[in-house]
Amino acid sequence: MTDYKIVLLKGDGIGPEIVNQAVKVLDKTAEKFDFTVEYDEALLGGCAIDATGVPLPDETVEKCKKADSVLLGAVGGPKWDNQPGNNRPEAGLLGIRGALGLFANLRPAVIFEPLKGASPIKDEIIGGTLDIMIVRELTGGIYFGEKGRKEVNGNPAAYDTEMYTVPEIERIARVAFDLAMKRNKKLTSVDKANVLESSRLWRETVIRISKEYPEVELNHLYVDNCAMQLVINPSQFDVIVTSNIFGDILSDEASMISGSIGMLASASLSEGKSGLYEPIHGSAPDIAGLGIANPLATILSVAMMLRYSLDRPKAADAIENAVSTVLKDYRTPDIYAEGTTKVSTDEMGDLICNAL
Ligand code: IPM
Ligand code: MG
Repeated sequence: MTDYKIVLLKGDGIGPEIVNQAVKVLDKTAEKFDFTVEYDEALLGGCAIDATGVPLPDETVEKCKKADSVLLGAVGGPKWDNQPGNNRPEAGLLGIRGALGLFANLRPAVIFEPLKGASPIKDEIIGGTLDIMIVRELTGGIYFGEKGRKEVNGNPAAYDTEMYTVPEIERIARVAFDLAMKRNKKLTSVDKANVLESSRLWRETVIRISKEYPEVELNHLYVDNCAMQLVINPSQFDVIVTSNIFGDILSDEASMISGSIGMLASASLSEGKSGLYEPIHGSAPDIAGLGIANPLATILSVAMMLRYSLDRPKAADAIENAVSTVLKDYRTPDIYAEGTTKVSTDEMGDLICNAL
């Protein structure tokens, strides 16, 4: 009997090549830790538009719902830029997040010791190391609020609505507090409560939930200040919890502090055990098919899958350790530094397998 059924959403651009490397690594890990994995594939994004006319076919949702976990490459590309907003590849991504109830998006920003030099932030600012966990609310707020076009004083106008309900804020706050309890017990909640009513509700609710977690030190930052603090004093942060749109922006910023967006993984979780795992970078259509894409963010997403959905923390550690070991000597072009050997996407996958 197979232990885990995983659905692969390879997507567009470099998606297929990086997912293939991650599968290779997961197979090797399964062999080493004595469990079995079975894969199924489904379409999401531009490839789904080409094959079926829509970015998220019903069949994809059905397959993902039945799986133990989902691994996603990346979606999008210039080929689909002229699609109407609700039929773009990105709409497929938002659709699958909504359909699977993936309300909690975990985006760790960490610096791998061998890559410290690649950070645009000075060593003395980073301090010892960087290990921030951004918890982004993923199925609410302005991304999913009422939107539309209308006319105002005879002028064409458009609007999007930021709205949060108390239960939505409570559940994401609990995910963040739980994570903080397993880490350094520090939580920063980010909002714009000096201006936005939805942020005032956010803050009140987070403060109320904090009573359940007396050991966690909670503080609040306005999003503009947080953006600044991330570059002047990033090591002050442990866990950050924030809304969908603020989390989108802050996680890109935090990822660059770590030196390469090609290195960072993410997990999107629902109330249940299964989740969706993906690199935080995009589909990089400009380098698709050249064999130079960095597969490590996707490989590290498999590590997160093993930790958060499949209860295999030792296997997750093994992958993360293998990545750190290999990085000392081998690099894909995006993170290449003198004194190391430049390798292809495929070679990087093999090196991680060997290091396991
Ligand atoms: C992300 C991306 C997506 C988002 C886009 C592609 C819809 O930027 O996952 O951060 O905004 O959520
Ligand atoms: Mg983003």
